[in-house]
Amino acid sequence: MTVALPTTQDIEGEVMRLEQKGLSLAGYDEELLFSLAKKTWRINRLKKEKNAVIPAHVYQRAEIILGIADFTGDSYRLSKLCAEATASMIVFCGVRFMAETAKILNPEKTVILPAVEAGCSLAESITGDQVMALRERYPGLPAVCYINTAADVKAACDVVVTSANARKILERLYEKHPRLIFLPDELMGQNLARDLNKKIGDEMIIWNGKCVVHEGFDTDWVARYRHEYPGVKILAHTECSPSLVEVVDFAGGTGDMFRFVESHPAPYYMLVTECGLGDLARTKYPDKKFVPMCRLCPYMKAIDLDRVERALCDPREEQIIAVPEPIRIKAKRAIDSMFELAA
Ligand code: 13P
Ligand code: SF4
Repeated sequence: MTVALPTTQDIEGEVMRLEQKGLSLAGYDEELLFSLAKKTWRINRLKKEKNAVIPAHVYQRAEIILGIADFTGDSYRLSKLCAEATASMIVFCGVRFMAETAKILNPEKTVILPAVEAGCSLAESITGDQVMALRERYPGLPAVCYINTAADVKAACDVVVTSANARKILERLYEKHPRLIFLPDELMGQNLARDLNKKIGDEMIIWNGKCVVHEGFDTDWVARYRHEYPGVKILAHTECSPSLVEVVDFAGGTGDMFRFVESHPAPYYMLVTECGLGDLARTKYPDKKFVPMCRLCPYMKAIDLDRVERALCDPREEQIIAVPEPIRIKAKRAIDSMFELAA
């Protein structure tokens, strides 16, 4: 497929659009904006020709979120919006479990993941067979999986949760069940168990998966930063360790962190999570100050504009997400239970 070439006027208009979207606030200079504008212009045009939609997770590069995405958000918001998408093609700028969730909810659409290596250390920590073995070991217990899991893991569980609704859904399940299985995030499981006052190994059976980004944040620096930035509000993702969660001002998912920033005035904020959230925060809240704090997710950052353009033009077989129908049906049941319980 040949892609139309933009005129100089098209590019100048696109540079202006990217500036207005806030890319300069994320540190992108004029030269960089010009080179990105040629790509975003072409991708946006291709998107229309192909009747495609681009969801982007908040950890994606700012030029993807602000330049080409149709909607953005945390895992929960993206799954909800994908369920309502009307385009015939979804080009997912996120990681594999997110693209798979979009496919589970939209079996009739072509779902493309532009970078095949965009996995997730949590999703890769457990297989569907391991979940089945766990369920055999603990018969009768409801199994709850974090959305950061592969389709066959979701299919082997009763309910899916995201960082935005895990606490609420577990609370509801504990009203009826004294014990449950939560997988695969060990640290999030420990945080939930502490919040809900449940005993790990007894009332909550957990797995040992970890997020390579969030497990690396320790607590040593917290007091020093509080001293250097008086009044700073420190926010951490619930995939971080309980020892860190204990000493910060707020812990939640990426969507919760933005809601906290919006509703709690402070001289500085520190977002203890993947770098993309801080970049986006600088463009979304230009009047607020964010202390640099950063770890890159190698999986999320595997996607760039060139890969999106190539995947839109001519997707390779391995970039097209496929979920076998029997697995899809069971996994959808667990996702639908989440939509019901989170409502
Ligand atoms: P959120 O749903 O909070 O955006 O989290 C997704 C994720 O992968 C965090 O590492
Ligand atoms: Fe997975 Fe962690 Fe990357 Fe999120 S940040 S996609 S949990 S590896």
